[in-house]
Parts: sequence; C-alpha cells; structure tokens
Amino acid sequence: MSHHVAATAVALPTQPYKGTRDFYPQDMRFREAMFNVLHRVVRSYGYEQIDAPLIEPIELYLAKTSEEIVNQQIYSFTDRGQRQVAIRPEMTPTVARMVAARFQELPRPIRWYSIPNVWRYEQPGKGRLREHWQLNCDILGAPSEKLADLEILLLAIDILRSFGANESHFRVYVSHRAILNAVLGDELKLPPEKWLPVARILDKKDKLKPEAFVALLEAEGLNALQRAELDFFFIEKLDYLKKKYHLAGAEYLLELLAELQKLGVGDFVEYDPGIVRGFDYYTGLVFEVFDRHPENRRSLFGGGRYDNLVSAFGREAMGAVGFGMGDVTLEDFLRTHQLLGDVPRSIDYFIALLDEKLAVAAMELAARLRAKGRKVEVALGAPRLGRQLQEAERKQIPRVIILGEDEVASGRYSVKTLATGEQKSLTFEEL
Ligand code: HAM
Repeated sequence: MSHHVAATAVALPTQPYKGTRDFYPQDMRFREAMFNVLHRVVRSYGYEQIDAPLIEPIELYLAKTSEEIVNQQIYSFTDRGQRQVAIRPEMTPTVARMVAARFQELPRPIRWYSIPNVWRYEQPGKGRLREHWQLNCDILGAPSEKLADLEILLLAIDILRSFGANESHFRVYVSHRAILNAVLGDELKLPPEKWLPVARILDKKDKLKPEAFVALLEAEGLNALQRAELDFFFIEKLDYLKKKYHLAGAEYLLELLAELQKLGVGDFVEYDPGIVRGFDYYTGLVFEVFDRHPENRRSLFGGGRYDNLVSAFGREAMGAVGFGMGDVTLEDFLRTHQLLGDVPRSIDYFIALLDEKLAVAAMELAARLRAKGRKVEVALGAPRLGRQLQEAERKQIPRVIILGEDEVASGRYSVKTLATGEQKSLTFEEL
C-alpha cells in the first residue's frame, strides 16, 4: 500500500491532535522538574522503574477494567495481521501481566513504578486530555495487606509533601470496596449481581442530578427503604462504620485510619463512603486525592487494592495495591498553589565569535569546558556582537565568552555577565 499526498494550496495545520499537547522546551523543563521529584521520592522508598509497550492486545482490557474505558474511551484498531490491539488507557493491566509472566522469579514484595503516557478518548477539558503521563506506583505480593496499604498511602502523601504541599492543600479520601458490598448485600439484601451496577451508579453520584441518581437506583430495583439506608451510609460516614463495624472492611478501615494517625499523617486522610472508583478490579482499599483549593476542588489522582488481577493470567492470586497520578492534574495543582512555576534554562556559557575563523577554537574551548561539567553553547556564525549578545539573552544564557584573536592567543577570556553588564577577563581555570 502506498500513500500519496496530493500537492495542495492549503497549509497543513500546526496544532497537535485534539486533546494532546506539544511539549516545547519550556514545557519539557517543567515536566522534567516535576518528574524529577517523582523519581526521587518514589526511589527513596525502594520502588524500581519499569516500562512496557504503548500497545497491548485488546483482551487485556476487556476482562477487567472500567466499563467506561472499554466502551467509550479506548483507542483500538486492527493491525495488519488482523490482531485487535489497543493503545494503553492505563498501566495496571500491563503491570499485572508483567508480574504474571515472571511470577516465580520476582523477589517479593514487588515495588514497581512507571511514568507511561496513556490514551483515553475523552472530551478534553480542564485536567482531562486524551494523552497524559501517569505515575504508577504499585506493591504486589506483600505478606501484609495492611502494611502495603499503609505504605502506598504514605507514599502518595509524601510525593505531594515533597513539592511543599501540606494539609491545607490536599486531602486523601479513603474507602474500602468490601464495605460498600457489605452494605449492599448485608444491609440492603441486594443479590451479588446487583452490586457492580449499583456501585457504578454511586461512583457517578456527584456528576448526576439528585433525581437522575434516584431514578437510576430505582431502575436497579432499590426501594425507598434501601435508598434511605444508602443515605445513612453516605451521611453518617465514620459513625456508620463504628456502629456497623461488623460489616466486612469496616474494622479494617478503622484500624488503617488509626495507624495513619500514629504515623502523623492522620490529618491528610479522611473516610468518604462516596469513594468508589470506576474500575472493576478493585477489591479492598480505594482512595482518591483531592485538591482543597476553592477554585480547583478536583480529584488529583487515585488508586486502590486489586487482589484478583494477577490471577486473571492463570496464576495464583497475588495481593496488589497502587495508584495512578496524572501529570495534567498534578501540574494544575502545583501551579494553583504556586509550588512549582516556570523552570528557567540551566546553561552556563555562550561563546560569541568575533570572527567566523575562530569557530574551531571556540568549539575546542567548549569541549574543554564541557569536560569540566559546564554547559556551553557556541555561536554558529559571527554576526555583529550586539546580535550575538541579544541571542544569548533571549536564550536565557547568563554569561557570554567573547572570543577574539587575542583571547585565543593569550588564554585569557573576556566574560560578560548579561544581567549586570559586568565584563571580566578570566583564565580557563577561573571559568
Ligand atoms: P484512574 O483514576 O483512571 O486510575 O487514573 C489515575 C489518574 O490519572 C487520575 O486521577 C488522573 O490524575 C489521571 N488521569 C486519568 N484520566 C485522565 C485524563 N483523561 N486526562 C488527564 N489525566 C487523567 C487508573 O488509571 C488506575 N490504573 C490507577 C492505579 C494504579 N490503580 C492501581 N494502580
């Protein structure tokens, strides 16, 4: 097959595909600065970085992920060999696949992280794009469920704290999948096949009008008494759990909250029965981190426990817990609270040429400076000096080495600091 592009008078559009971003150098500097903090904090907990292909067989997502993602948001196509493939909408199924593939060899607990780009066909809006980068941190195969859950929550909090955020900036809302199932099963007496559809409605509660919410519950066969019990569950919150601590998951969550208190991060965390999370694979702890800024009260990131995903690959069950943190919402958060702003270039010298014949000498000098760890840009031509100084200024280079015959001959270089206009004569060692 060959593609012919017809010559046309209409210029090609310069904007990127809908819902995606180009990263110009200043955008890339911000992203790098942000990611550097992520790498540093996550590695300080012993997490090892992984990566995987952008494309997976579509079956990976059909079995267990979110209904919304599979039916409305997945980018999929048939490849030239008639295989149905998908561009990853999330990383968790890939993590489970990779662990299952080396189930015996990997030393446990497995602590892995990655920062993949993931794709979802969404209506783009604030904090919502079609391509984003997502920090994934996951623990698999820990002997204690509670300790793994604790560490994941602590790590999530520590990441934001490392950017300088505190209790006033964000809050972690936690719940437990079993609690909701127990309320639906033990209290509302709903049959198990109703739990998932009802949970999906509850997950959308905040996005629905109250009447629409009630109508959906009615459509699933919930009567007024059952809906009233759900109301108690949502309004009484922690009191409901304390009263009904016998419900599966309730005592566990109360204990988890007490441990977080002891660890000194209790003020960051709050129980919220409304936290359901849209994924079918979550089995225990679920959590969602929210920005507390009045103008940016949005979900920043979330995660939870998924104990049955590895077993979907024909392995024994392996406990797992983790979260995904998107770069779009994180950037909004950091900029809103002024925790990270535009990142300047970091470069030491620009070598200006008084004569193009000195280019080789300039490149040699640059090489010697680079060998000493300096970052150096060399002029690629010798327009008049004023223009070269201007170029250096526009490129945010703080110092200019002005190279002429005398400098090359004497080994003393005149260096201009652009901010002050000050000019000095320095030897190579002094540079
Ligand atoms: P998720 O809640 O779908 O979870 O996504 C996690 C985070 O990725 C979101 O909270 C948000 O920060 C970011 N995100 C998701 N969709 C978009 C979008 N369209 N535009 C911008 N940012 C977005 C998961 O994907 C789970 N796999 C996370 C996980 C890892 N659970 C356990 N381990």
